[in-house]
Amino acid sequence: MSTLLPYSEKRIDSLEEEIQFTGVMADLVQTHANTISILARGFLEARKYISPVEVTNFLDEHLRARIGTRLIAEQHIALHFSSKPHNELADEKIHDHDSSYIGVIDTALRPAEVIRHCEDIVGEICELKYGVRPSIIIDGNPETTIAHIPMHLEYTLTELLKNSFRATIENGKERTPIQVTIAPAPEETPATDTGITNHDQGSVDRASGSNKPAVSSSGNIRPLEKSTPGVTIRIRDRGGGISPENYAKLWEYGFTTFNDEQITDKIDGGSQSNGDALNTISTLGAGGSSLAGLGYGLPLGRAYAEYFGGGIAVQSLWGWGTDVYLSLRGVGKVD
Ligand SMILES: Nc1ncnc2c1ncn2[C@@H]1O[C@H](COP(=O)(O)OP(=O)(O)OP(=O)(O)O)[C@@H](O)[C@H]1O
Ligand SMILES: [Mg+2]
Repeated sequence: MSTLLPYSEKRIDSLEEEIQFTGVMADLVQTHANTISILARGFLEARKYISPVEVTNFLDEHLRARIGTRLIAEQHIALHFSSKPHNELADEKIHDHDSSYIGVIDTALRPAEVIRHCEDIVGEICELKYGVRPSIIIDGNPETTIAHIPMHLEYTLTELLKNSFRATIENGKERTPIQVTIAPAPEETPATDTGITNHDQGSVDRASGSNKPAVSSSGNIRPLEKSTPGVTIRIRDRGGGISPENYAKLWEYGFTTFNDEQITDKIDGGSQSNGDALNTISTLGAGGSSLAGLGYGLPLGRAYAEYFGGGIAVQSLWGWGTDVYLSLRGVGKVD
């Protein structure tokens, strides 16, 4: 607040001032890059005093606001570097007229490419930690493109694939590929009709019914009135599904069934040291990567999807596997 407040009263009129402002934005984005793991650690340490419902209410509102703040800052930075005056000053010309990018938005983003990229990242973690790497088959319409934020899609898909890969490995089904189906949303039916969207992004968690909007909701972020075509991605794994008991807690921040020892035992009878989620966080802090452990993947992934009017729905066939539906709407349309 104190960093930004001075700019609410100041006009930015010159190139120098704009450069300085972009520097402030870049600092802001950088300084708060690790917020998620810091918050996770804090709430874990304070779990004796704060109920899971309170934690979820707070985080849902806070992290959704964070997505918005960061997006605006990152968009400003990206537009700064691609803008004409700065690009002309720069040694390396980065502006490409054929580019499908507008700032951080890719107007021709191919989900299939993002899926392959995330498969590599998650597969690498599996290989390093457990010595096995489940595979993915992409069907449906892999040519589909959507106007979206690559960073957001990458985050969400990585989380969903981590969950599916982990379940697949734990269930001993690593030879059965995970099936990812890409379906472009029909033009005439907006994604709002799919029933897995959020109407009041920013302050409503529909699944838990928490944070009901205030009577005057004018301060809330409104859903997009005009959006570009959307896409639905279904991730189908043979990971054994989710028990009804766990299914009820899926959208709670901090809910996890992850136990590193257990999964390592399943793979090779190994004896890697572990404790609870706090240890997972310290591993994360040390630069190690893990398949799971914080219990933030699903709720935060959904917050990203809902930010532009999409959503995540999980369908579990207990004893067999899980279907996760990620629906995305394109970002707003500019006429
Ligand atoms: N595809 C799936 N198959 C089986 N269980 C799943 C699947 N996806 C999620 N789960 C269950 O839901 C729980 C919560 O998932 P979530 O992604 O929110 O947290 P996590 O994976 O435990 O930790 P992380 O914060 O690293 O994602 C998981 O611990 C797991 O028990
Ligand atoms: Mg997860």
